[in-house]
Amino acid sequence: MKTLRFGIIGCGMMGREFASAAARWLHLPEMNVRPEITAICRRNISQENIRWFKDNIPTLRQVTNDYRELLDNPDVEAVYISVPHNLHQTFYCAALEAGKHLMGEKPFGIDKQANDAIMACVTKHPDCFVRCSSQFLFFPAVQRIGRMVEAGAFGRIIEVNVGFLHSSDLNPAKPINWKRTVEANGEYGCMGDLGPHVCSVPFRAGWIPLDVRAVLSNIIQERPDGKGGMVPCRTWDNATLLCQARDSDSGDVFPFTLRTQRISPGQKNNWYLEVLGTKACAKFSTKNANTLEVLEYSGREQVWQKIDMGQEIPFKSITHDIFQFGVSDAILQMWAGFLYEFDKGKPFTMFSGCVTPDETASWHRLFTAALKSHESGTTIFLE
Ligand SMILES: NC(=O)c1ccc[n+]([C@@H]2O[C@H](COP(=O)([O-])OP(=O)(O)OC[C@H]3O[C@@H](n4cnc5c(N)ncnc54)[C@H](O)[C@@H]3O)[C@@H](O)[C@H]2O)c1
Repeated sequence: MKTLRFGIIGCGMMGREFASAAARWLHLPEMNVRPEITAICRRNISQENIRWFKDNIPTLRQVTNDYRELLDNPDVEAVYISVPHNLHQTFYCAALEAGKHLMGEKPFGIDKQANDAIMACVTKHPDCFVRCSSQFLFFPAVQRIGRMVEAGAFGRIIEVNVGFLHSSDLNPAKPINWKRTVEANGEYGCMGDLGPHVCSVPFRAGWIPLDVRAVLSNIIQERPDGKGGMVPCRTWDNATLLCQARDSDSGDVFPFTLRTQRISPGQKNNWYLEVLGTKACAKFSTKNANTLEVLEYSGREQVWQKIDMGQEIPFKSITHDIFQFGVSDAILQMWAGFLYEFDKGKPFTMFSGCVTPDETASWHRLFTAALKSHESGTTIFLE
């Protein structure tokens, strides 16, 4: 078994998810490369904050609050960087300058300018393997939709609708955090945070927006500061983007809607995708994460079928085929996708490779155009 020695920079929610996925590598009996976490960096390294990592990662040899110290460590070959968006450019570029392979987090730069700078560093360091995290590609139903795309099963695309809906921000008493500040999360607001996930699958399918008309809303405009006062909350809560997209294979143009909402009453963490085509249609939502709905049209009745998916995954696991799949399984599969492609030099299948830097650049073109569209009240052309 080969190993790739990792440092984690940013040990919050997503840093822990990676540590847990790495600890669960025994789940993937056919992988011949695994991550080994040797170093962690977080802003505050009090005993209380790092105990969980120390207790659970026997290979951990460096703990620091300075990302440059971690990047100077020759024992670290690759880094997973999961920090607030305003730090992406500095940290990702420093990692590449230090010659480390990189799994970055979305949106891969707080804005287009930061993404352009990261893309320039990626081009300057072709020996570094660079990908961005987005786990939704790896759900079994999405994998099946991906295979339908590859087989041309949908026929002419009629319409594609994708979205990511949360609701906890409906509560005006929820204190502000970095994801609700323009300084740390960025001008994109909910688009920068939730939008990359809605783009990852359709963009991989080759459905790229030609134009966008965006409507953005800031519904709750001030929030508790956690210290007894109130502060302005200027980030966009909800965004609805209506685009025309072109299918890169057939050239067909179709309507494409992307919704990212932090205030969608009743939704906890609902990522959905609906593809309507002349020969087949498919619907998936993480609300019913093990169900894929498919309609195949052959000139007879138009019938939606519900399929229980089980473990239809790219990287074989020890879990029985019929067992249900969840978010932490998708994160484990995503990491397998990263290590597989790092090791073999190409993804296992079209839909089992992690998001590429070029795909992140497409996100930024769309979200920047969406900001302009909302401001001007017009359609913005992307080509
Ligand atoms: N893939 C997903 O599903 C998903 C989900 C949530 C967040 N994210 C992304 O992950 C990234 C981090 O989000 P999160 O939810 O884990 O945030 P978080 O607030 O839980 O964690 C951020 C971490 O960054 C650390 N940090 C901040 N400044 C630092 C510095 N100067 N040096 C070192 N560490 C520093 C903090 O100590 C904290 O541990 C963001 O890019 C976010 O968009 C991805």
